[in-house]
Amino acid sequence: MADNDPVNDLAPLLTPEGRALLDEVRDTDPAQELAVATRLRREHPAELVSAALGQARLRQRAVAKFGVEDAGRMFFTPNGVEQSTRASVAAYRARRMAEAGITSVADLCCGIGGDAIALARAGIRVLAVDRDPQTAAAARANADALGLSGLVEVREADVTDVDTAGFDAVFVDPARRGGRGRIFDPEAYSPPLSWAISAARRAPRGAALKVAPGIPHEAVPEDAEAEWISDGGDVKEAVLWFGTEPGAVRATLLPGPRTLLSRGLPDPQVRPPGRYLYEPDGAVIRAHLVAEVADQVGGGLLDATIAYVTADALHPTPYATAYEITDHLPFNVKKLKALLRERGVGILTVKKRGSAVEPEELRKKVKPQGPHAATVFLTRVAGAPAMLIGHPA
Ligand SMILES: C[S@@+](CC[C@H](N)C(=O)[O-])C[C@H]1O[C@@H](n2cnc3c(N)ncnc32)[C@H](O)[C@@H]1O
Repeated sequence: MADNDPVNDLAPLLTPEGRALLDEVRDTDPAQELAVATRLRREHPAELVSAALGQARLRQRAVAKFGVEDAGRMFFTPNGVEQSTRASVAAYRARRMAEAGITSVADLCCGIGGDAIALARAGIRVLAVDRDPQTAAAARANADALGLSGLVEVREADVTDVDTAGFDAVFVDPARRGGRGRIFDPEAYSPPLSWAISAARRAPRGAALKVAPGIPHEAVPEDAEAEWISDGGDVKEAVLWFGTEPGAVRATLLPGPRTLLSRGLPDPQVRPPGRYLYEPDGAVIRAHLVAEVADQVGGGLLDATIAYVTADALHPTPYATAYEITDHLPFNVKKLKALLRERGVGILTVKKRGSAVEPEELRKKVKPQGPHAATVFLTRVAGAPAMLIGHPA
């Protein structure tokens, strides 16, 4: 469903009849949708009923990002839900800006307003710009629905035509999805990253540009700080900050936040498997801070090219999950099957780095049975395919 589909026209949903209908269909079970639609069409225009049911579905999808309460009051477009920043990440970034003394932000590419809402909630005045009419309408409705319209002005415009003079900072979250899926080349973003960087450099008190976590480190400008952010262990985004600490690299883990800063350490030494294996958080790996974690836990790498850290001692760290390793052996399915049988392992978690083995295929082959749980790491130890078996420490 495209955002310009008539069913996405928000205007009818913002009328008293539309709002009442939205309340009515709020908790509609998808299995009951047809029956509910048939009943409601007797009293309301068919298009309004479809729009209300479509919006209810989008709100349900948005709960994971915005929570039940906000998602239940907000307005979405299909792309808008997909592309919006989750509230936890937006709130973290907004807090960083507020703590830096920034009081006004031009949010260039505001989408349905995920970031604009967080900025306003941090007490920042926002000019929120999006060129898509339905999306801008949703951002406006959201600022209103959440009682933030006093702080958020929404403008339907192309960001390249907007004068941001008079704002302390800019925030740019370019569109990274084209007609054929995700875009990896930062110059193919809309607007291109180079445009966003120029806008960032013009802002008097700094800027934040949201980019894909896979952005190559070479694409980070020298005058920017790069921050990779994960939430609940999943990497969500990278941010290029201007006006903070040029050249700084950090990994931030939410909730928390916990931030690990680069100390520019050399790659860790490769060493034989110790009693513990540490699996660094994805943000740490993307930020190339595995050496900092290895240093914290007094460990080294199992293989020069793989982000598993091994150490003899347990040093709890928020930046990696520690496992106690009971066995390590060359990769061999029959041996794994025998070992799991001997230990009565019926609940097997398969993790892998640097192995082409499909976890599901392996599980089918070893047929785990028994009351105990274990984790098997499929990886390489000094270049050779290996398996390490253990459990969370
Ligand atoms: C990734 S989304 C923004 C999501 C937003 N930060 C949020 O949390 O809801 C990118 C948005 O950029 C808008 N966009 C892309 N190019 C634009 C341009 N040149 N001018 C204005 N808006 C643009 C798209 O319409 C889309 O809504």
